[in-house]
Amino acid sequence: MVNTTTTAGLIGVVLLARHGDRTAYYQDPNTYNSTQAYITPLGETQEFELGSFLRNIYLNPDSSSFIQNISTDVVNVDQLAVRADAGGGNVILNSAYALLQGLYPSTSKSEMTLANGTTVLSPLGGYQYVPVESLEFWQSPALTSWMECEYFQYHLTRIYASSAFINMSTTAAPFLTALKPYLGGVNNSLTNMIYDHVNVQYTYNKTYYETLPPTFLEQARYYADWVQRNVFTDSAQNGVGQIPIRTLLPEIIWALGNMTKASNKVKMSIQEIDYKPFISLFNVTNATLADPDIAGIADYASVVALELSQNSQGQHEVSMKFKNGTESSQFRQLTMFGNTSITLDSFIHQLDTITINSTNNWCFSCNQTVLRGCSVFNYSNDPFLNPTATTNT
Ligand SMILES: *[C@@H]1O[C@H](CO)[C@@H](O)[C@H](O)[C@H]1NC(C)=O
Ligand SMILES: *[C@@H]1O[C@H](CO)[C@@H](O)[C@H](O)[C@H]1NC(C)=O
Ligand SMILES: *[C@@H]1O[C@H](CO)[C@@H](O)[C@H](O)[C@H]1NC(C)=O
Ligand SMILES: *[C@@H]1O[C@H](CO)[C@@H](O)[C@H](O)[C@H]1NC(C)=O
Ligand SMILES: *[C@@H]1O[C@H](CO)[C@@H](O)[C@H](O)[C@H]1NC(C)=O
Ligand SMILES: *[C@@H]1O[C@H](CO)[C@@H](O)[C@H](O)[C@H]1NC(C)=O
Ligand SMILES: *[C@@H]1O[C@H](CO)[C@@H](O)[C@H](O)[C@H]1NC(C)=O
Ligand SMILES: *[C@@H]1O[C@H](CO)[C@@H](O)[C@H](O)[C@H]1NC(C)=O
Ligand SMILES: *[C@@H]1O[C@H](CO)[C@@H](O)[C@H](O)[C@H]1NC(C)=O
Ligand SMILES: *[C@@H]1O[C@H](CO)[C@@H](O)[C@H](O)[C@H]1NC(C)=O
Ligand SMILES: *[C@@H]1O[C@H](CO)[C@@H](O)[C@H](O)[C@H]1NC(C)=O
Ligand SMILES: *[C@@H]1O[C@H](CO)[C@@H](O)[C@H](O)[C@H]1NC(C)=O
Repeated sequence: MVNTTTTAGLIGVVLLARHGDRTAYYQDPNTYNSTQAYITPLGETQEFELGSFLRNIYLNPDSSSFIQNISTDVVNVDQLAVRADAGGGNVILNSAYALLQGLYPSTSKSEMTLANGTTVLSPLGGYQYVPVESLEFWQSPALTSWMECEYFQYHLTRIYASSAFINMSTTAAPFLTALKPYLGGVNNSLTNMIYDHVNVQYTYNKTYYETLPPTFLEQARYYADWVQRNVFTDSAQNGVGQIPIRTLLPEIIWALGNMTKASNKVKMSIQEIDYKPFISLFNVTNATLADPDIAGIADYASVVALELSQNSQGQHEVSMKFKNGTESSQFRQLTMFGNTSITLDSFIHQLDTITINSTNNWCFSCNQTVLRGCSVFNYSNDPFLNPTATTNT
C-alpha cells in the first residue's frame, strides 16, 4: 500500500477511549477503590466498532481528518503509541486490543516473502499485532490516580456532606426506595453507583430485563450522571476532584508536543481508560459551558480526540471532538475555553499548571506517603508534615 502524502489533514491525534461493556464490578463510594471487571463479547464488539469508526476518520485519505503520512492498511507500529490501564480484570487492556483490531483489521497486504520464495501471512488472515503498554496498578498512579489518594477521599466526604448532595438525596429518595427490590443486596444510597448494577443486570439477566419498571434504567442513569459529575470535578481547575485528568494531561501534552517535532514518528496516541478522566477533562477545559449535556458519564466505547493540525500561519492547533459510545454516530466538535480550536501553546498554557506529572508529585498532591510507591520519597520537606519547611518538588 502506497501512503498518500498531502499537505491537508492532521499531523496527529491523541485519543482517549473508554473501555467496552463488561461484567459487574464494585466501587467503594468512600474511596472509589475498585478492581477492573472482565470484558464481554458485547464490549469487544463496541470497541471493534469504535476502531472501525476511527479508521474511517483518520486513516481514510478521503477524510478531511486524514493523518498525514500515516500508514493506512498495514500498520506501522512506530506510528502508534497505545497505553491501557491493566489493573485487576482485563476490560481496559482487552478493549485496547479490540479497538486496534477495528483500526487496523487483518489484511493479506501484510504478507511477507521469505528468501526461499515462500510467502507468509500472519494468522487469522493477516492479523496485525500492535503492542499495547499495559499500566499495572502498582506501576504508576497515572491512570488510576483517584485510588488510595487521601485528599480525594476528603473531597468525597465534602461532596456527600454538601447541601447540594443532601438535597439531591432527598429528591432521589422515592426513586431509590422503589428501586430497592431491583438492587439485590446493593446499598441504595445515592453515594453508591447503583446504575452500574441496574445496567449490568438489565443487559444480562432476562428476568430482570422483563421486570424492571419502565424509566428505572434512565432514572438510575440520571442520578449516576449527576453524582459522578460532582465527584470527578471540582470548584477549581487544580482541585483534587479533577485528579483523573490531571494525571493524564502530562501524557497528552507530551504526546502533542512530540508530534510537532520533525523527528517524531508517533501519529496516534491512544489512551484506553475508564469514564472518570472524560468528566474532569470536559470540566477543566470549560467544554461543558457550550455543551452542558456532556457533563455526565461517557458511554462504553466513547472517544475523545485531541486533533493536532497546523494553521496557515504555521502555528500548531488543537481541537477536541467527542463521540458518546456506539449508539451515537455523532463525532461532536467541542469547544475548549470557548473556541473550537486553540493553539497548542495556549492549550499547554491553560493546562500545564494543573498537571500531576510524576509519582512523586502525585504523592504530594494526595498526601500519600506509603502506598503506590510513595514510601521511597523523602517527606522531610513536606509542607504538611513539616509546615516550616519549603517544598522540595
Ligand atoms: C509527510 O511527508 C512529507 C514527505 O516526506 C513531508 O514533507 C511532511 O513533512 C510529512 N508530514 C508529516 C506531518 O509528517
Ligand atoms: C485498591 O484497589 C487495588 C486494586 O485495584 C488494590 O491493589 C488495593 O489493595 C486496594 N486498596 C485498598 C486500600 O483497598
Ligand atoms: C521456506 O522457508 C519456510 C520457513 O523456514 C519453510 O516453512 C518452507 O517450507 C520453505 N519452503 C521451501 C520451498 O523451502
Ligand atoms: C437545598 O434545598 C434547600 C431547601 O429546599 C434550599 O434552600 C437550598 O438552597 C438548597 N441548596 C442547594 C445547594 O441546592
Ligand atoms: C448504605 O450506605 C450509606 C452511606 O454510605 C450508609 O450510611 C448506610 O449505613 C448503608 N446502609 C447499609 C444497610 O449498609
Ligand atoms: C436476575 O434478576 C432476578 C429479578 O430481579 C433476580 O431475582 C435474580 O437473582 C437475578 N439473577 C442473577 C443471576 O443475578
Ligand atoms: C516523546 O518523545 C520522547 C523522545 O523520543 C520519548 O522518550 C517520549 O516517550 C515521548 N513521549 C510521548 C508521550 O510520546
Ligand atoms: C466544573 O465543576 C465545578 C464543580 O462541580 C462546577 O461548579 C463548575 O461549574 C464546572 N465548570 C464547568 C465549566 O462545567
Ligand atoms: C452519554 O449518553 C448517555 C445516554 O446514553 C447520557 O446519559 C450521558 O450523560 C452522556 N454522556 C456524555 C459525557 O455526554
Ligand atoms: C471557564 O469558565 C469559567 C466559568 O465557569 C470562567 O470563569 C473562566 O474564565 C473560563 N476560563 C476560560 C479560560 O475561558
Ligand atoms: C512536572 O511538574 C513540575 C511542577 O509540578 C515541573 O516543575 C516540571 O517541570 C514538570 N516536568 C515535566 C517533564 O513536565
Ligand atoms: C497528611 O498525612 C499525614 C500522615 O501521613 C498527617 O499527619 C497530616 O495531617 C496529613 N495532612 C493533611 C493536610 O491532611
